[in-house]
Amino acid sequence: MPSYIGAIDQGTTSSRFLIFDENGKIVAIHQIEFPQYYPHPGWIEHNPNEILDTVSKCVNDAINQFLNDKTRSIKDIKAIGITNQRETFIAWDKNTGKPLYNAIVWCDVRTLDLVHNLTEQIEHGVDIFRKSCGLPISTYFSAVKLLWMIKNVPAVRDAHNNDTLLVGTVDTWLIWNLTGGINGGLHITDVTNASRTMFMDLNTLEWNQHILDFFNVKKCCLPKICSSSEVYGHIKIRDTEIPIAGILGDQQAALVGQKCFKSGEAKNTYGTGCFMLFNTGTTPFFSKTGLLTTVGYKFGNMPPVYALEGSIAVAGSAIKWLRDNLGIIKESKDINSLAALTPDTGGVYFVTAFSGLYAPYWRDDARGCIVGITQYTKKEHIARATLEATCFQTRAILDAMNSDSGHPLTYLKVDGGMTVSDLCMQIQADILGIDVERPAMRETTALGAAIAAGLAVGVWKSLSDLDKVNSNDNDVFKPQISSDNSTQRYQLWQKAVEKSFDNQY
Ligand code: G3P
Repeated sequence: MPSYIGAIDQGTTSSRFLIFDENGKIVAIHQIEFPQYYPHPGWIEHNPNEILDTVSKCVNDAINQFLNDKTRSIKDIKAIGITNQRETFIAWDKNTGKPLYNAIVWCDVRTLDLVHNLTEQIEHGVDIFRKSCGLPISTYFSAVKLLWMIKNVPAVRDAHNNDTLLVGTVDTWLIWNLTGGINGGLHITDVTNASRTMFMDLNTLEWNQHILDFFNVKKCCLPKICSSSEVYGHIKIRDTEIPIAGILGDQQAALVGQKCFKSGEAKNTYGTGCFMLFNTGTTPFFSKTGLLTTVGYKFGNMPPVYALEGSIAVAGSAIKWLRDNLGIIKESKDINSLAALTPDTGGVYFVTAFSGLYAPYWRDDARGCIVGITQYTKKEHIARATLEATCFQTRAILDAMNSDSGHPLTYLKVDGGMTVSDLCMQIQADILGIDVERPAMRETTALGAAIAAGLAVGVWKSLSDLDKVNSNDNDVFKPQISSDNSTQRYQLWQKAVEKSFDNQY
């Protein structure tokens, strides 16, 4: 009988459940968008119960689709993996199971002042814990989000004082609920998600007491850290207990789904944000150019594999902004036909620093700016400049990675929603000056979670068994402009980046 693997993919704007066969082909999929809450400028929240409900509905609907083929049974699903938006943090009460506040989303910048107050007087400033956890103190990571909740939400503070608080990233919240909740739900996370909180030590893969003391957070509210691939427990679906056997943060899942298992391999995922991860092997590598050090994956008892990460906060969300806030496109995909109306941006450059600028700049104070507007500028120029914005920041990250590693990448593997656009991928190849490779099946994030789960239960016995997975031909985009031309445009974009700093508006 063929085996199948399920993957919960809980992202920033939607929840999904996919079922893959042993070759990585999708046999069932269901996706639901859920509401974003913006209570104040710069604040972004999700309702944890809406996250849970949409995941449950997706599982149910995809399983109905799966069972439409009467030769299949639910027992053919050998394991489920989970992948999730990272850093987004949830606090709940262990006795009632109720969330004590909305989830504070990864790109929320309410903690800007908190970060400044924490870091302005200390030696090494934001980099005080870089060598331990690989990250700067920033609004991006979970630690300051939890600190904000403890300081500002009385219910969270009381639960923290009384030891009734449970906290975690979205994987932790989902698994706790799906494995029983107040009736013995598992309070766990994996090394990749833990590596985005700031609380985990990269060398020991355990919570770092020194960092916890700095943030005044008790260890007992944090989940147990596990590997990314093992049988953690079971989820009951229609009277069948299915092992939950893989957990990966979504960007690390894409690294696995793209099969970047060798040191020196990299992928770039264009989702709500855009994230390049570069496999650096089994010892943590610390960047000199503003990149993050993170855990790439850890399969069972094997040694952890680390990655350098270049994070861009705004990619697909800028397209959503054109659609929802400016109304210059009706659907996200319309950006491609609009941008294709013009061969260039007419001198317009867009720095989409809606939540500050992440790698390699790390400027919390940056805000979005569009420069070079003239009477001639039309909406198609803005549309094209929006696509270019992510491609230029990707170049800044690639340059940083090349300089850190000393081995310039000769091609880049890509995936995620924006990669559907041939135009965007061509712009990317032009701006980088290297080949851009897009896999035939682009759901590599979900596939990565399925791979982690499938490896744990023996659907695939080893990494070489994965050769047959998603092995159809890739599309390759080759640079079509001269390197002088792309460098000149990149330099103009860098000037625009400087204009986004020290924002007083
Ligand atoms: O670090 C944030 C990241 O995990 C969000 O991913 O896919 O929603 O852009 P995505």
